Order: sequence, then structure tokens, then C-alpha cells
Amino acid sequence: MRKPIIAGNWKMNGSRDSIKTLLDGIKAGMGDVKAAEVAVCAPYIYLPDVADQLKGTAVAWGGQNLSTEEKGAFTGEISASMLLDFSCKYVIVGHSERRTLYGEDDALVAKKFAVAHKAGLTPILCIGETLEEREKGITEEVCARQLKAVIDEVGIKTLGEGVIAYEPVWAIGTGKTASPEQAQDVHAFIRGMLAEHDQGVADGLRIQYGGSMNAGNAKELLAMADIDGGLIGGASLKAEDFLAICTAAD
Ligand code: PGA
Repeated sequence: MRKPIIAGNWKMNGSRDSIKTLLDGIKAGMGDVKAAEVAVCAPYIYLPDVADQLKGTAVAWGGQNLSTEEKGAFTGEISASMLLDFSCKYVIVGHSERRTLYGEDDALVAKKFAVAHKAGLTPILCIGETLEEREKGITEEVCARQLKAVIDEVGIKTLGEGVIAYEPVWAIGTGKTASPEQAQDVHAFIRGMLAEHDQGVADGLRIQYGGSMNAGNAKELLAMADIDGGLIGGASLKAEDFLAICTAAD
């Protein structure tokens, strides 16, 4: 059985005060979360606060990005070892905002996956099609290309030690969620592609859905056979909403 994983992606939101309130709320409600593993991915600068506040709790934390480099003259970058220095467990790689706004291509994302995994972080690899790509009928082709880049770089077994987040770009932050059936179709396609490489990896790898998942639609989405959790943006910024998604996995 795959343990569902609900991860908050705070993006560039929050302040020291608001994060304290948010984490106090999440910690207070964690007793009700039975099935899901829970994590939050915070802006770099708040990771020390997050680590202090979550140490010893059941909530893991992580970064939203990382550098492919270990150290040196890379102004503004953060390395895997720096994330580990603050006990991050996870790091998001290839989020669609990084791909579209910051020009991260498949090759760079695959390298980031490799570097994160090698350092001992668990990468959360985001893949997904844009609206234009969906309308053209190439959703599967796009997801396959994005996955293949990582499999080519690290191999199927290493990919299997990460987490995949299927996030249709048209559903991110738009309030337009993929229907449970639409999401399930793509999740099943992804798992099928993994199975062509390695059945064990396909059976064990967790595939999150992301894109306007909220307290109201989480239960239906999480009930689908191949949806093993969620990567939550907007709805992860309020403890009550985030916890409702976490308990929806029960
Ligand atoms: P959203 O973001 O839940 O606000 O749509 C999800 C994500 O981008 O990971």
C-alpha cells in the first residue's frame, strides 16, 4: 500500500508571523490525520523557522527548488547540502512555475532531481501539460517526455525513490481542478509508463495530484486508484484548509 503524501507548496507567500500561526494550527490538528504523510515546502529564508517549529513533530519540510551546483560562485542559489543543513526531507523540482517563468527545461529538471537524490533529499518531481497542450491532445506525450528526461538521467530505480506530482498547468492557482476522472486517467498513464520500466517501482511510487486541490474536492480526488496524495498551493496557506485535505486522505 502506498502511503498518501500531502505536501504544502507555499510558493512565495508568508511572513515569519503568518508562518508561525500556520504551523501552530497544523501542529494542533495533526492528531486527527491518520493516513497521510504531511510535509510543507517553504520559501528558503523561512526554513530555519520552519525547522525549529516542526522539529519532533510528524510534519516534514522541504524546499521548493535547489541549485544543481554544490557550492561556489552562484549568486542567489541554494544547494542541496544547505537544505539538508536545515533537515529538509523533500525538495520540489520542476514545478511548472519554474519551468515556465524561469526557463527550466527537462534536462535541467532531471539534473536537479539527480543532485537532490544524490545528496539524500527526496525530490518531488512535478510534471504536467499546459492548457494548449491538453487541447492539442498531447497531455500524455508531454508527461512522458518530462518523465523520460528524468529516467534517462537517473534510471528508474532512483526515480522510484522520489515522488511524482502530476500538476496540469491549467489547474494551478486557477480554481479549475481536473475532474477526478481526468486526473486518474493521467495518473494511470504515468504508472503504466513506470511499469514498462519496472513493475515494483510503478507499484510503490507515489503520484500526487496538484492544481487547485482544496478541502472541497480532495476526498474525491484522493479516492481515485492512482492518486496518492496532493501538492497543495493556495489551500496550504490556511491550517484549517490544509488539515481538511490531510484528513481527506484517511
Ligand atoms: P494550487 O497550486 O493548489 O494553488 O493550484 C498547486 C501547485 O502549484 O503546486
